[in-house]
Amino acid sequence: MNLSAFLLFCLIKSSVSSLSPTEKTWTYKCESDKCVRYHYLTETNGEKRVPFMTCSMTCGDVNVWPHPTRRVGVLSSSLKFSVESLQLKMSTSFHEVDRLYRKSFHVFLRELKQIQKIEFFDHAKVAENERQSFNPEDKVKPSKCVKSHCDIINFIVEVHVLKSGNVHIDLETDESYNLTSTLDNNNMVAKITANTFFGARHGLSTLQQLIWYDEEDDLLRILSRFVINDAPKFKYRGLMLDTSRNYFSVDSIKRTLAGMSYAKLNRFHWHLTDSQSFPFVSKYYPELAAYGAYSDRETYTHEDVQEVVEYAKIRGIQVIPEIDAPAHAGNGWEWGPKKGLGDLSLCINQQPWKFYCGEPPCGQLNPKNNNTYLILQKLYEELLNLTGPTDYFHLGGDEVNLECWGQYFNETDLRGLWCDFMLQVMNRLKIANKNVMPKFVGVWSSGLTSTRCLPKSQVAVQVWGGSTWTENYDLIENGFNVIISHVDAWYLDCGFGSWRQTGDAACSPYRTWQNVYKHKPWEKMRLDGMRKKQVLGGEVCLWTEQVDENGLDNRLWPRTAALGERLWTDPDDDNSLDPIPREVFIRMSVFRNRLVELGLKAEPMFPKYCQQNPGECE
Ligand SMILES: *[C@@H]1O[C@H](CO)[C@@H](O)[C@H](O)[C@H]1NC(C)=O
Ligand SMILES: *[C@@H]1O[C@H](CO)[C@@H](O)[C@H](O)[C@H]1NC(C)=O
Ligand SMILES: *[C@@H]1O[C@H](CO)[C@@H](O)[C@H](O)[C@H]1NC(C)=O
Ligand SMILES: *[C@@H]1O[C@H](CO)[C@@H](O)[C@H](O)[C@H]1NC(C)=O
Repeated sequence: MNLSAFLLFCLIKSSVSSLSPTEKTWTYKCESDKCVRYHYLTETNGEKRVPFMTCSMTCGDVNVWPHPTRRVGVLSSSLKFSVESLQLKMSTSFHEVDRLYRKSFHVFLRELKQIQKIEFFDHAKVAENERQSFNPEDKVKPSKCVKSHCDIINFIVEVHVLKSGNVHIDLETDESYNLTSTLDNNNMVAKITANTFFGARHGLSTLQQLIWYDEEDDLLRILSRFVINDAPKFKYRGLMLDTSRNYFSVDSIKRTLAGMSYAKLNRFHWHLTDSQSFPFVSKYYPELAAYGAYSDRETYTHEDVQEVVEYAKIRGIQVIPEIDAPAHAGNGWEWGPKKGLGDLSLCINQQPWKFYCGEPPCGQLNPKNNNTYLILQKLYEELLNLTGPTDYFHLGGDEVNLECWGQYFNETDLRGLWCDFMLQVMNRLKIANKNVMPKFVGVWSSGLTSTRCLPKSQVAVQVWGGSTWTENYDLIENGFNVIISHVDAWYLDCGFGSWRQTGDAACSPYRTWQNVYKHKPWEKMRLDGMRKKQVLGGEVCLWTEQVDENGLDNRLWPRTAALGERLWTDPDDDNSLDPIPREVFIRMSVFRNRLVELGLKAEPMFPKYCQQNPGECE
C-alpha cells in the first residue's frame, strides 16, 4: 500500500467507525411483526432513520418482560418527550406507601435520565440519595422540550394505591395493577391503580419498559396509548444468592436487586452463611464473623443489611435471610470452648470430609448444646429486626450428615435428633419474632423432610432435588407447601466443571435460559387446582463455589429474567418440546439490552447479528 492509498484507507476507516458507536448505519422497518434492517445510506431514500428500539417497541406484540397476564392494548405509534416532563401525582391515604413510592419514583427518574444520557449513576452510590427524602414534585425543572420537537410537554404519572397500607410483602399481597394512558394536547397522563404499594411498584416497572431512548431524536419515546391489566400467577418469585462460598459486595447485591425488580421478582433469599465463611457481623456474637469471615472487609454489618433491605423494599422486594443450620455451619462457630459455651458446632473442617459432610469444609451445629440454640435465636432476632416483619423465614435444615453427629451421639436416634433440632429452632424463631410464628418457615428438602416430624401447616419446603424425584409428590401429598428450585432447571451454578482436584462437577450441564423458561413442573406433575395452591412459587438458586462478584451479573442474567416470566406470566405452550416462540426471543433480547443499559453485565443470548435481525437466526 503506498502512502496515498494508506491515507485514503485511514480516512474511510475513520468515517465508518465514527458511525458505529450510535449504530446510525441501520434503519428499521416493521414487516410482518418483525423489524427488518436496512442499510440507511444505500437502501433508503432520505426518509427519517428509525432506530432499532423505536421499531422494536412499535412492532408486533407489546415489548414488556414479563408479559402482562390479563389485558394488553397498545397503539403501535410513539411520542417523544424528555425526562424533565415527568411528574408524580400520588393519591393514597397511606403515609408509608406515599413515602416509599416517592423513592421508587426517584429511582425511575434517575434510570430514565441514565438512558436518556443526561446523568449517569452507579448502583453503588444510590443508597446515599435514597436515604434523603426526595420529593420529585419540588424539583420540576423547566422542560427541555419545546412544542416543536416534543410530543409531550407535561407527563404526569398518577398513582392510586387503594386498599392497603402494608409495606411488608406477604403471600396474600395483591400485586395486581392497572396502567392506562390518556393524552390531551401535549399532556400525557399515565395512571397506575393498584391495591397495594407492591402492585403500584410493578406498574411503574411496566411503565418504564414502555419507554425507550431514541438516539435519532436524542429524546425518550413512549407508546402513544396503552391499557394494561396485570397480575402474577405465582406469589413467591425468588432468587437465592449464596454469600458464604464467595463474598459479594453490597454494591453487587444491589445490582442484583435492581435486575430483580425489572423482572418483577419479589423475594431475595440471602443465603448469608455456610460452613466456608460467616460474613454477618452479629451485635450479640461478633465472634461469629471475627472467626468466620474471609477478612474483616468481607463482612455484612447491620448497616449493610439495612441498606440492602431498604434498597430492596423500594423495588418491591422482601429480603429473606438464612443462617443455614444445623448442617452447613462450621467456620465462625469454633470459639465456643474458649468462651465457656462448649462446642457449638461439630466436625469443623474435619477430614476426610467425605465422611462428614457434602462438600469441604465440614461443620454441623451441636444439637445438644443449649448455647447453640440461644445464638441462633439472637441471630434471628437481629435479622428480623433488620428485615422487618415477614411471613416467611428460612431456617436451612438441609444435608445433615448423620455420620458427623454419630461420632458423638451414637446412642441417639439421629433422625429424631434432627427433628428435635428443627422443632427447637422453630420455637426459638418464634421467640425471636416477638412470640409470633411467621406464617411459613422455609426449610430445604432432604431425606429428612419426609420424616413428617415437622408441622406441615407451618413449613414451606424448598424443593431442590430433581423435578422427577418422588419427594415432589410425597411432600405435596403430605400437605406441605412448596417453593420449587429444581436442580435440573433452576440451579444457575451448574455446568462449570469440578472445583476440586478430584470428583465430578456437582451438577452439570449448564442450565440455559430456555431450560429455566420451559420448566413448568406443576404441569408435568398434573397437579389439580387444590394441589397447585400448595406450590407457592419458585426460586432460582446461585450457589457460589465458582463465582464471585466479578462474574455475578452474567451468571444471573438474563436467565433469572426467564424465571420472572415463568412465574409471573406462566405462559401456555402446548408441548414442552416445542421451541420457544420467536416473540419470546425478541422480547427477551430487548429486556437483556435494557439490563445492560442500566449497568448489569448480562450475557448476550446470541450474536449481535441476531439481535439486529429478529427472526433471521431461527
Ligand atoms: C383493573 O381493571 C379491572 C377492569 O376494569 C378491574 O376489574 C380491576 O379491579 C382493576 N384493578 C385495580 C387494582 O384497580
Ligand atoms: C435452654 O435454654 C433455655 C433458655 O434459653 C431454657 O429455657 C431451657 O430450660 C434450657 N434447656 C436446657 C436443657 O438447659
Ligand atoms: C432493633 O432495632 C432497633 C431500632 O430499629 C434498635 O434500637 C435495636 O438495637 C435493634 N435490636 C437489635 C437486636 O439489633
Ligand atoms: C458408639 O460410640 C462408642 C464410643 O465412641 C463406640 O465404642 C461404639 O462402637 C459406637 N457404636 C456405634 C454403633 O457406632
